[in-house]
Amino acid sequence: MANKDDKFKKVIAHAKEYGYIFSSSEIYDGLSAVYDYGQNGVELKKNIREYWWKSMVFMHQNIVGLDAAIFMHPTTWKASGHVDAFNDPLIDNKDSKKRYRADVLIEDYAEKLLQKANKEIAKAAKRFGEAFNEEEFKSTNPRVLKYLGQREEILSRMGRSLENEDLADVKALIEELGIADPETGSKNWTDVRQFNLMFGTKLGASADTATDLYLRPETAQGIFVNFLNVQKTGRMKIPFGIAQTGKAFRNEIVARQFIFRMREFEQMEMQFFVKPGDEMKWYEYWKDTRLKWHLSLGLGEENYRFHDHDKLAHYANAAADIEFNFPFGFKELEGIHSRTDFDLKAHEEHSGKKLQFFDPEMKENYVPYVVETSVGLDRMFLAVFSTALQEEKLEDGTSRVVLRLPAVVAPVKAAILPLVKKDGLPEVANKIVEDLKWNYNVAYDEKDAIGRRYRRQDAAGTPLCITVDHDTLNDNTVTVRDRDTMEQTRVPISELKKILSDKIDMENWLK
Ligand code: GAP
Repeated sequence: MANKDDKFKKVIAHAKEYGYIFSSSEIYDGLSAVYDYGQNGVELKKNIREYWWKSMVFMHQNIVGLDAAIFMHPTTWKASGHVDAFNDPLIDNKDSKKRYRADVLIEDYAEKLLQKANKEIAKAAKRFGEAFNEEEFKSTNPRVLKYLGQREEILSRMGRSLENEDLADVKALIEELGIADPETGSKNWTDVRQFNLMFGTKLGASADTATDLYLRPETAQGIFVNFLNVQKTGRMKIPFGIAQTGKAFRNEIVARQFIFRMREFEQMEMQFFVKPGDEMKWYEYWKDTRLKWHLSLGLGEENYRFHDHDKLAHYANAAADIEFNFPFGFKELEGIHSRTDFDLKAHEEHSGKKLQFFDPEMKENYVPYVVETSVGLDRMFLAVFSTALQEEKLEDGTSRVVLRLPAVVAPVKAAILPLVKKDGLPEVANKIVEDLKWNYNVAYDEKDAIGRRYRRQDAAGTPLCITVDHDTLNDNTVTVRDRDTMEQTRVPISELKKILSDKIDMENWLK
């Protein structure tokens, strides 16, 4: 597919055409940065959520689940620091009237320097061939050193300024770097200001007694306030984790890029409670474990990279993102944060309740440290969907659009297709549907010529097509066609369950 913009537009159009994602309340022209998941989207999203849940909760004896409410006592957000510090630095362009996140403008500039350095490295690798020593080149080539040095300097200056709330310096940096409005090229900027991202709402019927509430901006706080409930009732011993999936809400300043940055989205978070001092060991463990989980989906190792934070959130002593190569470049997919004892201690202070663990070996109470893994379900969806969408040329000169979704998360696992709508073939096909539907989401399709039906299933992301023809009536065999290879194999109907299980079951993917 041509260029990045083009590819991204195709992703959005395909998501709509095949019932994956629609704009919210589209008949009223939609709502900015809010989306609905259609008949296929809801299945893909549910399957990704389940793939995460099983890898966290079923695969770890010391991790349990939770489903806390979206509404929480308002003091929660005072304690967590969100009321005072959950801000994004925004900047407006006076000419275009467009609003941007100042830190994102600077990060995009820094990313371009990295790309320039990588280009030099790639050029040299081509020139020197086998003899190329990348590490030596990176540490000696003046141009690469200049680009990487500048990038480092820019990111650390921004990190320092944001930490010190020195917004004037953030603006100065934008001006010194000559950063222009990406859409219009204008450099006529306002000052940088902080903007709180939480949505407020009210609980209660009458205006004078109603309580001010927030829609939760992360699911994590529901876990922290239930730490003791779960630890005591589940008799959990440190180290242990609590996992949760659910909606979160943020009044994002810049909410473009489809489902990458939404105002209502879903998170899959896990808080791992550890002994103070052990947090770096677990931080490394979870970085490694989470990357392996992503790689298990087979979207390509080259599409992931770690990015260590220069600017740490108010609660963290170490943090890294797993970035993914989205159609618009590498961006954050998941965060892994060492949150220290910040949250539990803050909730102790604000609630007056002890949130501690009695360590039977040390014979003492302590507030556990926390290592968090936090991934956006909608971003996972976008990563999977955009990588899966491919246009390919076939040997016969024609082309096809194929959605190579990992079979384990594909919405419909197999389409059962009678070759013709008569001669008893639909009846046999329906019997196969009846047999498979207990374990797999399967579809029946008898409309149009078989070739067109194959193409439709390819584009919808269905991994297997099972075709019933006249031979089936004699020998109880069917043709199984693989979406990716387009290979067709003749198999007995009695083997279908095993074929589906080998290709789709989570056990085979997670292992
Ligand atoms: N509890 C920690 C936390 O919320 P975060 O880095 O702000 O950390 C975690 O968010 C993940 O949630 C991100 O890596 C991203 O995948 C997802 N996420 C955050 N804001 C989002 C948004 N506006 N739209 C979609 N996903 C978002």
